[in-house]
Amino acid sequence: MILRPIEPQDRSQVEALYGAELPQCPGLVDIILDEPSVFTLVAVVAEEVVGALSVALCSERWRPGAKLGGDLAEVLAIAVRPSMRRMGIGLRLMESAHAFADGSGAKRLEAQIREQPEAIHWLLAGLGWRPVEIEAETYADGQRAIRVAAEVGG
Ligand SMILES: CC(C)(COP(=O)(O)OP(=O)(O)OC[C@H]1O[C@@H](n2cnc3c(N)ncnc32)[C@H](O)[C@@H]1OP(=O)(O)O)[C@@H](O)C(=O)NCCC(=O)NCCS
Repeated sequence: MILRPIEPQDRSQVEALYGAELPQCPGLVDIILDEPSVFTLVAVVAEEVVGALSVALCSERWRPGAKLGGDLAEVLAIAVRPSMRRMGIGLRLMESAHAFADGSGAKRLEAQIREQPEAIHWLLAGLGWRPVEIEAETYADGQRAIRVAAEVGG
């Protein structure tokens, strides 16, 4: 498995992966690949994209059109193909997000996650992430949105 920045030929596979695995965020996944503040990494096995992570470098909570730069690295999306889970791919993608934050001069890492499923909670907890806030807005299906954060370099 190799991890590398997204290339133009990966786009349709990343869109399909995010579309299938992050159906609760259709508006987000439709636009993040075109945003200059967002960097996307892909995990590739046998020339197939089996995982992806998108992280923004911004100055405050990411919004579409956010200017590139700032001291916040916000993980906007992470997904691994179901048949490839529990093999350490998600962990390697998240470790890359930490390295990206460190190398970009970010001071904090944040993300917004749903209450369920729990896999992302376990993955992030193992990397030192902690819940910091319950968001006022809920997802369309009523699930709560939880703001989580980690120290850069921690
Ligand atoms: C969250 C997700 C990316 C994890 O990817 P993954 O490649 O399976 O994760 P890893 O194999 O690297 O797991 C690393 C560690 O996280 C924890 N973990 C991951 N999935 C878990 C699960 N289902 N149950 C319990 N712990 C889990 C474990 O500690 C695991 O280490 P271990 O396998 O040695 O016990 C994947 O489940 C996924 O794509 N989910 C759907 C999309 C999603 O919910 N994204 C988050 C919202 S943006």
